Amino acid sequence: MGERHFWEDHHARRRMIYPAEEVVRLLAYAFPDEKSRRGRRALDVGAGSGRHTVLLGRWGFRAYAVDYALRAVLNVRTFLAEEGLEGRVACGAMDRLPFRDSVFDVVLPWESIFYGDEAAVARAVAEVRRVLAPGGLCFANLRSPGDSHVAESEALGPNVYLNRGEWDGLTFTVYDEEAARRLFAEGFELVWFDRYVVTRRNETARDAGWMLLVRKK
Ligand SMILES: C[S@@+](CC[C@H](N)C(=O)[O-])C[C@H]1O[C@@H](n2cnc3c(N)ncnc32)[C@H](O)[C@@H]1O
Repeated sequence: MGERHFWEDHHARRRMIYPAEEVVRLLAYAFPDEKSRRGRRALDVGAGSGRHTVLLGRWGFRAYAVDYALRAVLNVRTFLAEEGLEGRVACGAMDRLPFRDSVFDVVLPWESIFYGDEAAVARAVAEVRRVLAPGGLCFANLRSPGDSHVAESEALGPNVYLNRGEWDGLTFTVYDEEAARRLFAEGFELVWFDRYVVTRRNETARDAGWMLLVRKK
């Protein structure tokens, strides 16, 4: 089963409603009041169920979303409509974003940019930079080697893994601290860099990685 087909099937069965706490924290830090957000263009990359697209819309951003799974695109549109929010939702790949250069004030590739091998992730980062306006902000997270998805995966290289567990068939890349900082070194200024560790399912699973807020130079 191809990776996109995995996500088509996933989004036909599952829906996430609530935004990630880290996204709320970072967005609230960078845009503390309604005036700072109103009318700014914000793109949710690999939007999934659209929980962050809806957050962006609720907070006054002009919300945009992109995902390569058609099912996700339809779900995000439905979610926005249920909430009475407007937004533009496109079907497309994150390493070839279907948007013009320098059009977004915010790009949010949360829980998405690390999918694929190192070259694919680097292409996605370059695309994020391309579509951001100068001074625009990117909020992203990267998995670190301590994330428990690594333990259920087959190593394809020193930092690249193929999941053989619940997320069977998905390729992802992990980053130690230095590599995480390096990934966004070119053409960005680092505004915020933090580690996160969250345990789930009675501590049988552990999400571990880096949360970054970077500004396009
Ligand atoms: C774990 S989900 C995260 C969804 C959402 N960002 C969130 O935080 O709830 C990853 C999403 O990325 C999308 N995705 C994975 N690889 C992609 C790619 N190369 N291009 C576009 N979307 C991709 C999947 O379809 C899926 O919806």
